[in-house]
Amino acid sequence: MTFVITTPLYYVNDKPHLGSVYTTIICDSIARYKRLVGEDVLFITGVDEHGLKIQRKANEMGIEPKSHCDEISKVFNTNWENWDISFDKFIRTSSNNHKLIVNEFYERVKSSDDIYMGVQKGWYCVGCEEFKDNPENSSTYKCPIHQKNLEWKNEENLFFRLSKYQKEIEEIINQPSFIEPIERRNEIINFVAKGLKDFSISRTNVSWGIPVPDHDKHTFYVWFDALLGYVSAMNSDTKDNSLEKSINKGWPADIHLIGKDILRFHAVYWPAMLISADMKVPKKVLGHGFLTREGQKMGKSLGNVLDPDLLLSKYGNDPVRWYLIKDISLGNDGDFQDKRFVDIINNDLANTIGNLLNRTSSMSRKWFDNKVPNNEKILGENKLKFYAKNAVKNYIQHFNIYKLDLAANEVLSLAINTNLYLNNNQPWVLIKEKDNLPLVKEIIYNVLESTRIIGLLLLPLVPELSSKINEQLGSIYKEEIPWEQQLSWGILVSNSILPKPNPIINKLEYE
Ligand code: MSP
Repeated sequence: MTFVITTPLYYVNDKPHLGSVYTTIICDSIARYKRLVGEDVLFITGVDEHGLKIQRKANEMGIEPKSHCDEISKVFNTNWENWDISFDKFIRTSSNNHKLIVNEFYERVKSSDDIYMGVQKGWYCVGCEEFKDNPENSSTYKCPIHQKNLEWKNEENLFFRLSKYQKEIEEIINQPSFIEPIERRNEIINFVAKGLKDFSISRTNVSWGIPVPDHDKHTFYVWFDALLGYVSAMNSDTKDNSLEKSINKGWPADIHLIGKDILRFHAVYWPAMLISADMKVPKKVLGHGFLTREGQKMGKSLGNVLDPDLLLSKYGNDPVRWYLIKDISLGNDGDFQDKRFVDIINNDLANTIGNLLNRTSSMSRKWFDNKVPNNEKILGENKLKFYAKNAVKNYIQHFNIYKLDLAANEVLSLAINTNLYLNNNQPWVLIKEKDNLPLVKEIIYNVLESTRIIGLLLLPLVPELSSKINEQLGSIYKEEIPWEQQLSWGILVSNSILPKPNPIINKLEYE
């Protein structure tokens, strides 16, 4: 069984912003965790290239949509490599391979008698690529997400019979595990309860899209096209892709991780489209909140957009990952505050974890000939062993239900307790009495061992930092041995060499 996890396919109107980095980091962390617990993971990301929004952007730039998309897609791909994102597939919706899937899917939906020609009238937000539910004074109403006026549309379009699937969709969204967190589920339940309306799946005024067979001038509506990117990505390496081949690679997706603004598409429209094509619906739609900056919405007009490239070059990958994962509860909105960011990194990573390792390793090297002490009580019970066991248990429970912030906090608590244990036991005082030597060996071993477990638990969250901790302890993590097995107490080898300590993370300065 393959575990399939997806990010949204990002619009290529601009380079990645902090919101897209956030979603992708969370997905990456889940994908890494699932691999560590032994799942066969397929992590899909990619770009959404068609539609009016992209067509207009290319026009503004005075270039062909295709060249514009080539350029920005490359930026996305390289960007995820720079962030060390462990994606398996990067799908482009302008690829031929994807076009084959869209056409085949359309034929299936058509043969279910779910397509008809109608007239679409309404107020449209080009930024969202979505008709809005008739807000008051629509001509002056600004889309709250894009801060732009809506546009009036009145054209002949092909429609998909969404209304036919009212009952099926109600059943799906009422399953507690389908939409998470619960606040997101309630939003959708209320929306569906108002009655589902058919939606248009083609456009006549957009040339930058996949042509609809037998309907001159019609291209597929960008969302109809883009959602299918998840399916084409499953088997994107072949030239002769087909629905059956993609499905055989492990469809349905286990998790679509998305922001709350695109929940309806994923939790309502998409499952109905899939049922119509006789395909399985995704197992879970995980909707995260929005990021703000110092309490304000981020936007170009406000001039407060946080450039992820700048963050990466200034602070590095792990600090940003740690902040976004640990400080924001998935599902809630989160605020990026510069001072809070610096404080959290310095407290959690540099002081609580980094210093703990550094000073304990230095003591051990100084007193025990550059080695891990020979602890004769590895098998006995001790406070730290108890804390570590609990932290591991809770961490796994939290991760399994995608509470990544709580999992990260478990690691931090273990590090705090380990510092307390060290400070309460004061081995630097005990070492002065020769008789205390066995006790000092036990204390130092326990702290190093707890640090080893902290490092391992950090692996899916902050991989670089985790591997630095591992190196500092003599590279004892073995990829070929199950990760969970290595989380048990007592694996650090007595008398093994401890490399010279190096700070694993530098303190950040607040400017
Ligand atoms: N192209 C569509 C998705 C199609 S999926 C088949 C799209 N793209 S997007 O680039 O506009 O948005 C991608 C993701 O970024 C969405 O999940 C959206 O919620 C998220 N975010 C956009 N701004 C955000 C914040 N300020 N904060 C957090 N996430 C945000 O929608």
